Amino acid sequence: MDKKTFEDLIKKDREKRAYRQFSGAFLDYLELVKEDPSIVKLAHQRMYDVIMEKGAKILKTEEHPRLKRIYGNQIIKKYQFFHDFFGIDETLMKIVRYFHSAAMMGEESRQVLYLVGPVGAGKSSIMEALKLGLEMSLPIFALKDCPMREEPLHLVPKHLRKKFMELLNVHIEGDLCPVCRYRLKNKYNGEFERFPVEAVDYSIRTRKGIGVVPPVDPNNQDTSVLIGSVDISKMDLYSEDDPRVLSLNGAFNVGNRGVVEFIEVFKNEIEYLHAMITATQEKFIPSPGKGPMIYFDGIILAHSNEAEWNKFKSDHTNEAILDRIVKIEVPYCLELNEEIKIYQKILRQSRFSMHIAPHTLEIAAMFAVLTRLASSNKVDPLTKLKIYNGEEIMEKGMVKKVDIFELKEEAPREGMTGISTRFIVKAIDRALSESEHNCINPITILESLVKEVRELSISEDERRRYLSFLQNTLKKEYHRMLEREVTKAFIHGFTEQAEDLFNNYLDHAEAFVNKTKIKDRNTGEELEPDEKFLTSIEEQIGITGSAAKGFRQDVTSYMFFVLRSGGKLNYQSYEPLKEAIEQKLTNSVKALSRVITMAKVRDKEQNEKLNAMVEEMKKNGYCDHCCNVILKYAANNLWKD
Ligand SMILES: Nc1ncnc2c1ncn2[C@@H]1O[C@H](COP(=O)(O)OP(=O)(O)OP(=O)(O)O)[C@@H](O)[C@H]1O
Ligand SMILES: [Mg+2]
Repeated sequence: MDKKTFEDLIKKDREKRAYRQFSGAFLDYLELVKEDPSIVKLAHQRMYDVIMEKGAKILKTEEHPRLKRIYGNQIIKKYQFFHDFFGIDETLMKIVRYFHSAAMMGEESRQVLYLVGPVGAGKSSIMEALKLGLEMSLPIFALKDCPMREEPLHLVPKHLRKKFMELLNVHIEGDLCPVCRYRLKNKYNGEFERFPVEAVDYSIRTRKGIGVVPPVDPNNQDTSVLIGSVDISKMDLYSEDDPRVLSLNGAFNVGNRGVVEFIEVFKNEIEYLHAMITATQEKFIPSPGKGPMIYFDGIILAHSNEAEWNKFKSDHTNEAILDRIVKIEVPYCLELNEEIKIYQKILRQSRFSMHIAPHTLEIAAMFAVLTRLASSNKVDPLTKLKIYNGEEIMEKGMVKKVDIFELKEEAPREGMTGISTRFIVKAIDRALSESEHNCINPITILESLVKEVRELSISEDERRRYLSFLQNTLKKEYHRMLEREVTKAFIHGFTEQAEDLFNNYLDHAEAFVNKTKIKDRNTGEELEPDEKFLTSIEEQIGITGSAAKGFRQDVTSYMFFVLRSGGKLNYQSYEPLKEAIEQKLTNSVKALSRVITMAKVRDKEQNEKLNAMVEEMKKNGYCDHCCNVILKYAANNLWKD
């Protein structure tokens, strides 16, 4: 960016915010509202607009077979506002839906938004995003020096409201706070048009429009945290019913027109919760001392873990409160690819500058997701993980059809248990601090996960299950991935060779199916389809005998279908065939890979082969260190027949 671009950026922003620098009398404010009625908004409406302003798009599942497999015909909306959240789209959609109906002043505008979920599932981060959204939004207008930063239109007396609403085309609700009412009467002589109005910002740090209620020590639950208090030092100056003795600095006071957040909400005394409910339901909060109730307009957010929710729910005296809560579950992410993105996000934010070998985060994420999945007798855990990730599942050379929705229905609580995101990040940090080379790889991450699991306080059964994921399931899966990868690096022009095999296979399979001959591309000679060659590929994925004929038929008709519908073919087009071809190539160099990687002494030709392989692996994201480590590991652990 050059100087000019910066200058334009700054000027544009200033223009946009210029009229919000406003400071004037109420009469001037009315002019402002007349010009742009959209500046008058209740809190939920403002939040909804802040979210939607960034844009939203509907996921085009019909264009992505992978997404289609995960979501079927469900409509998934992606909100740019929540671009930093992954794999919890349905939760985010519910949250936005809440704000939408609350913005329309439906029943939700009078209910608490409550998030429940396991530790580290992102509840606090969602709250943080909402608060940050307000902080970044344009300033709002408030009565100058009002402790509640209230909407200036509260000045309009009841008998004039209807007229004002018509003239201004806005909705007016709420009454003056006791402090402003006092000032209006005594300072401005009731001439409300003179009352000063100013533009104000939201700020988390200085508690402007954002109030937070941490769980309070139950022995010291004093409602002043919520609604402020009577300032004893001023009692000498003013009489007890003079509003000037009030310190309206509780969470509900400062959170007026914005957000009041209750952290671990059910740890609080019931009295707190009643105040919370009155605030949402009646839109009034008590005044400290003996004053009348005070109008409140804000979003009440609350969160806690499931155990607390269950405890609270089981007490039937809490029914009235439960009825006024919109509960939204925030489960862990169950989609492998999205889980990886969470770690990438967190690592980007952290201080570590490190090298991460290919598949490292993938393996860690696989572990996390495996611990979160409920077991099913329809599929094994790893297969379930792949189905949830939208991958095609192969069985005996066929794409296995497993209904993802059936699996999900089978396990309604899935995602509410298992290993947290934080746990994985801790294991990554541990692997890193134990590495001397500032580089972590799948092997070191597996080791560090094993150590972390050993230290985890969980039942022994659970621990065994977790360790088995790490030491069996994932180890095997990693070996499979690694073998593929080394082979690919080993075979010069892997893709070209795979394409050749693929094209040959298609030619021969088609001739076989149609009982025709093949014209040799070079000599023009007519040849019988080479069944031996076809078999040599099919047997890679366990297709033999009569199944082979069916397979050739399937491949041929699939390919015709693709070509007819204008698609392009490559060796990866048909999952079973891709699998078979890659396997064939891998096997063809098995012996050689073993010799080269394991040899203590290599001849010149072998050395060249090794170097070429190392170069190829580095192109794929390995550094000198992890390439070396991984190849040694491969030599010791792979290619054992
Ligand atoms: N689905 C997700 N998408 C993006 N980031 C996530 C997701 N889940 C968790 N995280 C990240 O994991 C970390 C922990 O999340 P957070 O602190 O918000 O969890 P929490 O639900 O509030 O946990 P706790 O119950 O322990 O308070 C954060 O850095 C958060 O951004
Ligand atoms: Mg939290």
